[in-house]
Amino acid sequence: MQKFTFILGLLAAGVPALLGQDLPPFTDRNCRTDAYPPQASDAAPKFVFNMDLDPKDRWTELVQPKSANISFLIDDIKSLVGLLLGKKLTSEVINDLFGPVVTSLPDPYDRELQGIAEATGIPIGEIVMMNIFYEIESFCTAVVAQDMKGDIYHARNMDFGQFIGWDVKTDQWIITERLRPLVTNVEYQKGGKVVARAVHFAGYAGILTGLKPGVVSLNINSRHKLKDIGFLGFIEWILGDRKAYWTGFALRDAILMATDFNSTVEHLSTVDTMVPSYLTVGGVNPGEGAVITKAKGNTSDAIRRINADQGKWFVVQTNYDSWKNPPFYDDRRDPAIKCMKNMTQANVSSKSFYNVLSTKPVLNMLSLFTALMHVREGTLDTYIRHCPQPCYPW
Ligand SMILES: *[C@@H]1O[C@H](CO)[C@@H](O)[C@H](O)[C@H]1NC(C)=O
Ligand SMILES: *[C@@H]1O[C@H](CO)[C@@H](O)[C@H](O)[C@H]1NC(C)=O
Ligand SMILES: *[C@@H]1O[C@H](CO)[C@@H](O)[C@H](O)[C@H]1NC(C)=O
Ligand SMILES: *[C@@H]1O[C@H](CO)[C@@H](O)[C@H](O)[C@H]1NC(C)=O
Ligand SMILES: *[C@@H]1O[C@H](CO)[C@@H](O)[C@H](O)[C@H]1NC(C)=O
Repeated sequence: MQKFTFILGLLAAGVPALLGQDLPPFTDRNCRTDAYPPQASDAAPKFVFNMDLDPKDRWTELVQPKSANISFLIDDIKSLVGLLLGKKLTSEVINDLFGPVVTSLPDPYDRELQGIAEATGIPIGEIVMMNIFYEIESFCTAVVAQDMKGDIYHARNMDFGQFIGWDVKTDQWIITERLRPLVTNVEYQKGGKVVARAVHFAGYAGILTGLKPGVVSLNINSRHKLKDIGFLGFIEWILGDRKAYWTGFALRDAILMATDFNSTVEHLSTVDTMVPSYLTVGGVNPGEGAVITKAKGNTSDAIRRINADQGKWFVVQTNYDSWKNPPFYDDRRDPAIKCMKNMTQANVSSKSFYNVLSTKPVLNMLSLFTALMHVREGTLDTYIRHCPQPCYPW
């Protein structure tokens, strides 16, 4: 607590005025065309997740060396949540509240989380809290597009950590800063074969960005609905109403079980999840790109598919319903759409996507990583991001 001066909640809304003052209004002249290639040193570290191991041992090699980083993150979540509640949250309180939840988690997640707790020496309740934390908030941009040959590309920026706390010493969002060293490019292997790829935060067992080679790619953006805030779903879970999936686990299972694009979209639009979300899905064939606007529970409010024959060769998703305007203080959607149009369908590639996702404010102070996915080739490239000043705070 003494380490930082926190600027919380509404106060943080003053930050754009301080930081964004040198930034002109957005036009397509702002679209980056030269950001690619990133430096090799920006590539996220790799880890092989061996599914043939006992679930308890699968994450050990990744999380053990990062124990100090994970507990640093958890300490900050504790002090920030404590500050919001006006109470000091001790490890005992967290463990009493979240510890017992682990036994209610489906296999193999219960055992994986227990293994993470053992390997890091962090109490199980805190590991559970870390695994629920991402359900609640993240601000991101996702794009999926079809090139002139009918091939599909999918990419996303992960923006995370807003409104929670600002470190005035480093001019960074606290949680964003804590998460960067945890970003890992994970290769799922079974019987020595690659069965999936995903971006993980070390210590987090669900998938928020990932693909199954030759089948589908998938990522989640948060959808904010006041009556469906993530915490309510979690309270229902604690109280014993456990039919909904934790979203990160739902996505991981969906990727591992996927057989084709259409059935994955169908499954995702009806799977019962704890929080509402936007799910961007990509495939390998023409037309296989979609954004599902998912409601809490087992319904979805809309599915938007690409349709290149009708000129709709891409879909962009940030954190707002497509039929509503984004709020004036957070419009990443219009810049992303402008840059996609400026790029033209002839230039669709991971390289061009990296340029769009490097354009401010699509790239902002919350941006943790950019992930570039190409299902046909089975590639997932992840680059850690920093936004050079002057930069938008979100
Ligand atoms: C976290 O990780 C980074 C780089 O991986 C390292 O430099 C830093 O010291 C770590 N911080 C803590 C608190 O362990
Ligand atoms: C997938 O669904 C779309 C839309 O319903 C349909 O047009 C397309 O033919 C389906 N593709 C396959 C391979 O079944
Ligand atoms: C969704 O849940 C409701 C109530 O629990 C149920 O009646 C309905 O059949 C479910 N729909 C799907 C598509 O699973
Ligand atoms: C892209 O933006 C540049 C710079 O504003 C402009 O000159 C060019 O005409 C745009 N291209 C398209 C296809 O919109
Ligand atoms: C699109 O491709 C053309 C030809 O390869 C290139 O000249 C142009 O700079 C590209 N535009 C963008 C926005 O990447």
